[in-house]
Amino acid sequence: MKALVLAGGKGTRLRPLTHTSAKQLVPVANKPVLHYGLEAIRDAGITSVGIVIGDTGPEVRAAVGDGSRFGLDVTYIPQEAPLGLAHCVLIAREFLGDEPFVMYLGDNFLLDGIADLVNAFREADHDVQILLTKVAEPQFYGVAELGPDGEILRLEEKPEHPRSDLAIVGVYTFSPVIHEAVRAIRPSARGELEITDAITWLIGKGHRVHSHFVTGYWRDTGRLQDMLECNRMVLEAIEPDVRGTVDALSEITGRVDIGPGTTVERSVIRGPAIIGAGTRIDGSYIGPYTSIGEGCVLEEAGVEYSIVLGDSAIRGVSGLTYSLIGRNVEVTRAVGLPNTHQLMIGDHSRVQVRA
Ligand code: TTP
Repeated sequence: MKALVLAGGKGTRLRPLTHTSAKQLVPVANKPVLHYGLEAIRDAGITSVGIVIGDTGPEVRAAVGDGSRFGLDVTYIPQEAPLGLAHCVLIAREFLGDEPFVMYLGDNFLLDGIADLVNAFREADHDVQILLTKVAEPQFYGVAELGPDGEILRLEEKPEHPRSDLAIVGVYTFSPVIHEAVRAIRPSARGELEITDAITWLIGKGHRVHSHFVTGYWRDTGRLQDMLECNRMVLEAIEPDVRGTVDALSEITGRVDIGPGTTVERSVIRGPAIIGAGTRIDGSYIGPYTSIGEGCVLEEAGVEYSIVLGDSAIRGVSGLTYSLIGRNVEVTRAVGLPNTHQLMIGDHSRVQVRA
């Protein structure tokens, strides 16, 4: 069995980070989302992985390489534009050959991995297995309607009146019949080759399309709140480990992982939290559910329930919460006129300041 990981796409919902970075590389507890997916694939006993890449291909290649450090053998499959999930299968035909495969959307996060799904597929005689989970607002997802034995009767994309509360999670297993389906369908109204259309085509032809339920925690990390929530889930379970130096005036409580070469002075860190290597924390407060990347500087800063990427600086600003701060960012106190805010931020940024 092979794996096809989708790491192209636009990532519009995570702009401006995705102007310069792949959304699949945004870190959760200081590790790119995509790495969790690749580890899950390896843990399911699969080694041959094709990764579909788009504009951010060079960055994905740099973060994954030939896959050997994950115990994987990775082949890159460039996609000229994000033309849909079924388009990814179409262009991966040569790599996939006639083997069954698991398709994994690179921005999905499954705490318990995919071994259950893959094993169920290996044991059963299905053509397609779709991973599903119950959600509170199915109208925002692809929704499945099931028959009495767990077979899938119908799939609908973001239906106004959902027929069930079962949302499609971004992992599928396919037998090679999917190749016939992706060639048979036409682009949807939004101009994409939809995987749901390809699967619907297979259902119409009488193929065996079955459901499988997510057991543990799952999130599509496409939006800020999902990233922060995943970060929280992973930090809940981190092992405390202090490899940097912490001075006598500082207080570290709870699960806190501090990377090598990091210095903490006159500061309070309340876990769960992770601080990358070579970061300097001085006179600051870091609250629960915070990940700070490598090479950052926090001086007289206060931040909690947030993700800060590498090489960024926060100076003289406290009260930061529910924030995603990119790489090489500076957040500092405005000097000069009282009660002013001075901003220089990229396109599609969102800033919320207390009025
Ligand atoms: P989506 O979340 O559907 O799309 P997107 O990444 O463009 O994000 P947004 O909605 O914020 O603009 O994509 C799911 C995953 O599949 C994601 O990891 C990107 C990847 N993908 C491709 O690799 N090629 C494609 O043609 C599409 C549509 C998505």
